[in-house]
Amino acid sequence: MREMREGESLLARIAAMQDHKAYQEQHWEGSLEDYLKIVRENPKVTRTAFQRIYDMVLSHGKSEYIDNKKKLVRYHFFHDEKFGGKDAIYGLDVPLMKLVNVFKSAAQGYGTERRVILLHGPVGSSKSTIARLLKKGMEEYSKTPEGALYTFAWELDRKRDDGTIVHEVMPCPMNEEPLLLIPADWRQKVFSELCPPESGYRIPVMGELCPACRYVFKEKMAEYKGDFSKVISHIHVRRLVLSEKDRVGIGTFQPKDEKNQDSTELTGDINYRKIAEYGSDSDPRAFNFDGEFNIANRGVIEFVEVLKLDVAFLYDLLGASQEHKIKPKKFPQTDIDEVIVGHTNEPEYKKLQNNEFMEALRDRTVKIDIPYITKLTEEVKIYEKDYNSEKIRGKHIAPHTLEMAAMWGVLTRLEEPKKHNLTILQKLKLYNGKTLPNFTEDNIKELRKEANREGMEGISPRYIQDKISNALVSDKGEGCVNPFMVLNELESGLRQHSLISSEEQRKRFRELLGTVKQEYEDIVKNEVQRAISADEDAISKLCGNYIDNIKAYTQKEKVRNKYTGQYEEPDERLMRSIEEKIDIPESRKDDFRREIMNYIGALAIEGKTFNYRTNERLHKALELKLFEDQKDSIKLKNLVSSVVDKETQEKIDLVKQRMIKNYGYCEICSTDVLNFVASIFARGDAKE
Ligand SMILES: Nc1ncnc2c1ncn2[C@@H]1O[C@H](COP(=O)(O)OP(=O)(O)OP(=O)(O)O)[C@@H](O)[C@H]1O
Ligand SMILES: [Mg+2]
Repeated sequence: MREMREGESLLARIAAMQDHKAYQEQHWEGSLEDYLKIVRENPKVTRTAFQRIYDMVLSHGKSEYIDNKKKLVRYHFFHDEKFGGKDAIYGLDVPLMKLVNVFKSAAQGYGTERRVILLHGPVGSSKSTIARLLKKGMEEYSKTPEGALYTFAWELDRKRDDGTIVHEVMPCPMNEEPLLLIPADWRQKVFSELCPPESGYRIPVMGELCPACRYVFKEKMAEYKGDFSKVISHIHVRRLVLSEKDRVGIGTFQPKDEKNQDSTELTGDINYRKIAEYGSDSDPRAFNFDGEFNIANRGVIEFVEVLKLDVAFLYDLLGASQEHKIKPKKFPQTDIDEVIVGHTNEPEYKKLQNNEFMEALRDRTVKIDIPYITKLTEEVKIYEKDYNSEKIRGKHIAPHTLEMAAMWGVLTRLEEPKKHNLTILQKLKLYNGKTLPNFTEDNIKELRKEANREGMEGISPRYIQDKISNALVSDKGEGCVNPFMVLNELESGLRQHSLISSEEQRKRFRELLGTVKQEYEDIVKNEVQRAISADEDAISKLCGNYIDNIKAYTQKEKVRNKYTGQYEEPDERLMRSIEEKIDIPESRKDDFRREIMNYIGALAIEGKTFNYRTNERLHKALELKLFEDQKDSIKLKNLVSSVVDKETQEKIDLVKQRMIKNYGYCEICSTDVLNFVASIFARGDAKE
């Protein structure tokens, strides 16, 4: 009995999760009269697919920011928050802005609503992801009160040959807007009554009913001798929820083997079984309006690899975009209302550049370039999304691993800077928001300008994702994957990479791996140094000492020696050994010391005391100085030989703990990195 009750309560709990109100709203049904009331209250239920997709994007909010003096808009819709960021798009605010602007002008009827939107870019630049987001977004929006839309069905009694009467419900096969039932020449008057001009919104002009509904409409008109209200009594209006899975309002067309595909897949086909029932192949009720264009009516249709489409489909596609009409076999042209998004990758696009197919298409498309990311921090986010500690269990990813893979990816996409004596790595850092002396925002703009194809070539995130996965499943790591393992995977994959066009390019990509390794060396050297010298007490002591000395120096006084109590000249050697760490030349030392004293003085007036942490440069200088002092006492390079005395071992363990606590290392990778850095220093000493 007890189990029973538990079972019940579990079901009850599941049942309680259901949102009754939302369910009821999404299943609203009523008469055409009821619907007209809805329209009067909220005429926006009649929006076109383009108006809807634009409002959908906006409904997620936006923010503005300035990048390189340019005002940019970030549309939060593309963060995919509703689905936990699964399909989030990073670093493409500019192309996405262009896309949203196309929606905007199409929503206002400025012409882009008559175009195919073509997402174009290199392989793996998130074109499919963007298309998927739009489709998902439209589905979700149609479930909300703001995104509500409606369609209708016919309630009919049909007399069979044997005299029996069957009740049939015939939904509009293309999920059309119920207002289409109002004959065209009455519409203007009806619409302006439903939605007066001063309301600020205009019910969009629309086409004709689909052939099936037209047929029934005419049949009923004849039956009721032109009594519209009687005809309409057969109409049942209901809320429409778009769903790709149910093939409602969302369609996807994917080119397959030519022989197996014909235009019926786009515009529907005769239902041979029903011809017998209805007696004629031109009876629209014996036709399946279930082509991809039909079912996508009111929403979005995605054309996967649109340039691989057979020419036979081209005219359907062009008619659909230009005229908003499709031509089902044996039926007149039929109006549609849907957003057409196609995508194609760069190699395919280039191949077809001079092809007749393209000529016809080019004029009727708005091409939006979707390049690879060229900003490191954004590229890293792609990999952090897939490879984080939540998702990767049982394996640790060493700090900087994803960052180094992403850095290489971005480097392969950048063009060599032509001017300013800039290395490609420096360029990457500039793009990433780092400031370099003598470099203005205008220079960066100029850099971007001189490299206008930047981001359209190079290594795709997909390649990098694959190689990170390889490194994760390989047995080499024993529980921890480090940057070298990933960089090696990236390198060995280059041999078979199908998209690398020349040996020269392969060589360049390899060299860039070298650049990344060098950068990694610098980063970990710095990190280990900081971990060694992250001894707070020692740093503040050193800092106090330094400040006492520069104070005496700037005021031309003497310093009291704490041990002997004697007054001595300021310790020039100590001061310089710290300042040299951050490249303060002899000629600038007075300024530097005075600046610090002024700052301390200003703080004192406000009753505050100085903390070295607030001065980034001084902090770094102190750490480096401390590292230098302690390096020998820790005997880092001894690590390379495995014989270490107890005292050194204790110090090393302390450093390791700091690396684990402060920088996210684990037992394995902290040891690896210490060994690696020790070997660098051993090498360096050998060179000296
Ligand atoms: N800017 C980006 N933001 C987030 N993820 C991205 C971005 N660019 C690429 N990706 C990731 O790269 C992978 C490939 O993306 P997708 O399949 O959408 O590319 P595509 O452009 O359609 O490629 P193809 O040309 O091969 O069809 C996905 O995992 C995607 O999440
Ligand atoms: Mg794709």
